[in-house]
Amino acid sequence: MPKTVLVTGANRGLGLEFARQLKKAGHTVIGTARHPDDAIELGELLVGDDDRLEQLDVDSDDSVKALAGKLKDGDKPIAIDLLINNGAVGGHKGTLPELDMDGLIEDLRINAVGPMRVTKHLLPNLRAGSTKQIVSISSQLGSITNANGGSSYGYRSSKAALNMLNKHLSVELKDDGFTCMVMHPGWVQTRMGGDQAPLTPPESIAGMLRVIEGAKPETHNGAFLDYKGETLPW
Ligand SMILES: NC(=O)c1ccc[n+]([C@@H]2O[C@H](COP(=O)([O-])OP(=O)(O)OC[C@H]3O[C@@H](n4cnc5c(N)ncnc54)[C@H](OP(=O)(O)O)[C@@H]3O)[C@@H](O)[C@H]2O)c1
Repeated sequence: MPKTVLVTGANRGLGLEFARQLKKAGHTVIGTARHPDDAIELGELLVGDDDRLEQLDVDSDDSVKALAGKLKDGDKPIAIDLLINNGAVGGHKGTLPELDMDGLIEDLRINAVGPMRVTKHLLPNLRAGSTKQIVSISSQLGSITNANGGSSYGYRSSKAALNMLNKHLSVELKDDGFTCMVMHPGWVQTRMGGDQAPLTPPESIAGMLRVIEGAKPETHNGAFLDYKGETLPW
C-alpha cells in the first residue's frame, strides 16, 4: 500500500536517494531541506499531487514547529506513515588536544537532539499514520562495543546518543503500535562517506527500504540494524 513518508535532509546524498526510490515505488514523499530553493533535484522528483518540498532545519525549534504547523488539514494532522530522520553532519574532527567543545555540542545537537525534535513535533502526524514507523539513520560508528579509535568524538557520541534516544522512544511508543528503529546505511559514497566508500547510494537505500518494508513492531521495534537487516551491537 502506498505510504506517506517524510525524509529529512532529502536534498542530497542518502536522503535524495530515499526520495528517489520511494517515489519510484509509488509513495508520497514530503522531502525536507534546509534550503529548499537550492534543492533542484529533489524538487524535480516531488511532482505528485500530495508530494511536498518543505523547509526544515532539525537544529531549529522554529523551523520544526513551522513545519508541524503546515502539515495539517484544518485542525487535523496530515498522516505520515514513515518518518526517516536522515539529515545529519559528519561532525568536528580532532583528538583530545584539538577537541572543540562548542563543536562537540553542535554535533550532539544536530545528530541526536535534532531527530528527537522532529519526532516530537510530528508525533500527531505519525499517530495518524497507518504503519507508524520512525527510522533514524545512525551509524556503526555509534556502536560503543565497536569503538576502536579515530578522532570523531562528536559524530560517534551523537550517534550513540541517538541510539539510546531511539531505544527509549521505542519503549514509550510500544503500546501505540510504533516501530522505532536506528539503522546503519553501510559506508556509502556521499559527501559524508567520501569517494572511497564501497557502497553506492542506490545499493544502500534499496537495502534499507527492504528492511523497513519488512519491519514489524513485534520484531523490529527498538532495533539497531544495518542496511542488510543484520543486528549491530550497541
Ligand atoms: N555516507 C555514509 O557512509 C554514512 C555512514 C553511516 C551513516 N550515515 C548517515 O546517513 C545519513 C545521511 O548521510 P549522507 O551520507 O547522505 O550525508 P551528506 O551527503 O553529507 O548529506 C547530509 C544531509 O543532511 C542534511 N543536514 C545537515 N544538517 C542538517 C540540519 N541541521 N537540518 C536538516 N538537515 C541537515 C544536509 O543538508 P545540507 O545540504 O543543507 O547541508 C544533507 O541533506 C546521516 O544521518 C549520516 O550520519 C552515512
